[in-house]
Formats: sequence, structure tokens, C-alpha cells
Amino acid sequence: MRTDLVIKLGGSAITQKDTPYTPNSVVIKRIAQEFSSSWGGRRVLLVHGGGSFGHRAAIKYIDGSGKLCSPIGIAETRHAMHRLTSLLAESFLEKGVPFFAIDPSACFFYEEEGAKQNLQYDLQPVELALSAGLLPSLGGDVVLSSRRHGRILSGDTIARILALESSAELLAFGTDVDGYIEGGKTLGKIGRGALREMIAATKGKSNDVTGGMPGKLSEIGEYLSSGGRRALIFNATRPGTVQRLLRGEEVEGTYIDID
Ligand SMILES: Nc1ncnc2c1ncn2[C@@H]1O[C@H](COP(=O)(O)OP(=O)(O)OP(=O)(O)O)[C@@H](O)[C@H]1O
Ligand SMILES: [Mg+2]
Repeated sequence: MRTDLVIKLGGSAITQKDTPYTPNSVVIKRIAQEFSSSWGGRRVLLVHGGGSFGHRAAIKYIDGSGKLCSPIGIAETRHAMHRLTSLLAESFLEKGVPFFAIDPSACFFYEEEGAKQNLQYDLQPVELALSAGLLPSLGGDVVLSSRRHGRILSGDTIARILALESSAELLAFGTDVDGYIEGGKTLGKIGRGALREMIAATKGKSNDVTGGMPGKLSEIGEYLSSGGRRALIFNATRPGTVQRLLRGEEVEGTYIDID
């Protein structure tokens, strides 16, 4: 599988993260329009975050070790993500973009052994969808473990895995900020060497069960040390950013390169 771009639409951009179960419909519709005008069948994988849908449901049920043990909690979290995925699908299909939702809970699972959680996956459905001219889309999800509970699999992790497995040219994380901000300024281009200090200096948000900005930086670190070439944190709420990325152009944001 090979892609030009893996783009994650963060929950901070496509939902109103502080208001339960509330999409950012203006942003969703605009991004759907930008795909309609600029996607042109390029090999792109879409991932989306949980925002005020997935995180909101998961926070009710997740325990201190990251497990969701109650069947109703697992099912409710899954459904919260379905609701957000449906809203995205409606907007994209309305613009004639063949948004094709693939449930990560059906192709990812955890094989747990002692304290180890090995994430297993089969991405053939994603590859087949790409080949069929579809726009595959995977949302952060609750996935099942061999120990009979659920665990959250973040959109950031899914995006990192898809980008690695498809040797993507670029792994782009769309958020509601212009990039990584330090001392009031957005950093432009940085090397991966700077990541460790940035992670230590950054705080997550309490309404995010997947680590917020520090979690994202860790995924980028993992990406670059596993063969990934280039990652980006950009503002997906700004008109035209997604469009430019789809056309292979640079945007304002923090680019993190392998060196
Ligand atoms: N140094 C920083 N620079 C930029 N943003 C930061 C920084 N530290 C914390 N943040 C916060 O990180 C947020 C983005 O991460 P967050 O996980 O909330 O969004 P997301 O990944 O888009 O959402 P989701 O996890 O629902 O997909 C920004 O809204 C900002 O408030
Ligand atoms: Mg996040």
C-alpha cells in the first residue's frame, strides 16, 4: 500500500471539544468542499479524532489503567464515534466525495500478554478501498483486547500506523491551532531531535483520553524513528489548508522532519 498523504482531522477542529456531542459543522462542511475540489483521486487516507464525541463517552468508563471494562461503556463509546463518523460521511457524500468509513474496531485488536499490549491489525480492507477509488476514513475507536475489555485506540495512533504502512509522503495532523506553540510563537520547521524536550514541556487536556498535544508529539516521535519521513501539525479550521495539502503544497504549520 502506498499513499501520498495521511491526514488526520483532529477532534479539536471538527468538533466543539468543550461542548458534549457537538460538531463543528462549518469546518466539516468546508473541509468536505475542499476535498471535493482538490482531492482528485490522489492516494489519501483520512483519519478523524474523537473530539467531544469519543472522548466524552470514553471518559465516563475508562479506568486508571486505560481499560473499558463495562460492555455498555464499550458499546456507548463505539456509538459516539459512529455518530461523528456519520456526520462527516453525510457532508463528504453531499459534495460527491466517496467517503468510506472503516471501523478500526473491526480491523485492529490488542493481544495482551502479561503487562504487554500488542496491537494487531489487518489493513487489507483499507488497501482494497484505496484501490477501488474510495476515500477510506478511520476514526479513533474503542478496540477489543484478548483480555475481554476495551481500550481506546487514538486517531493519532491510527494515523501514524497508516502512514508507516503506506510509506506516506506526509503525515498531517489537523488541529485548531496553527502548529506547535512555544513562548507564544508557532514553530515552523523542526527536526525530530527537539521532540523529547517539547513533550516534557507540554501539557495534555483533561477532556482528552489520548494524551492531547504531548500524545501527538509522542506519535510523531515514534513515526520518525520507525521510518516515517515527515509529519506536520497544522490548523484545519483555517480555510484552504486542507485544500493545499491535497494539492501537495506546503501550508503554515509545524513540520517535523527526520533530520
Ligand atoms: N504547545 C502547544 N502548542 C499547540 N497546542 C497545544 C500546546 N499545548 C497544548 N496544546 C493544545 O493541544 C490541542 C490539540 O490537541 P488535542 O488532542 O486537544 O486535539 P486533537 O488531537 O485535534 O483532538 P482529538 O484528540 O479529539 O482528535 C490544542 O487545541 C491546544 O489547546
Ligand atoms: Mg488529541
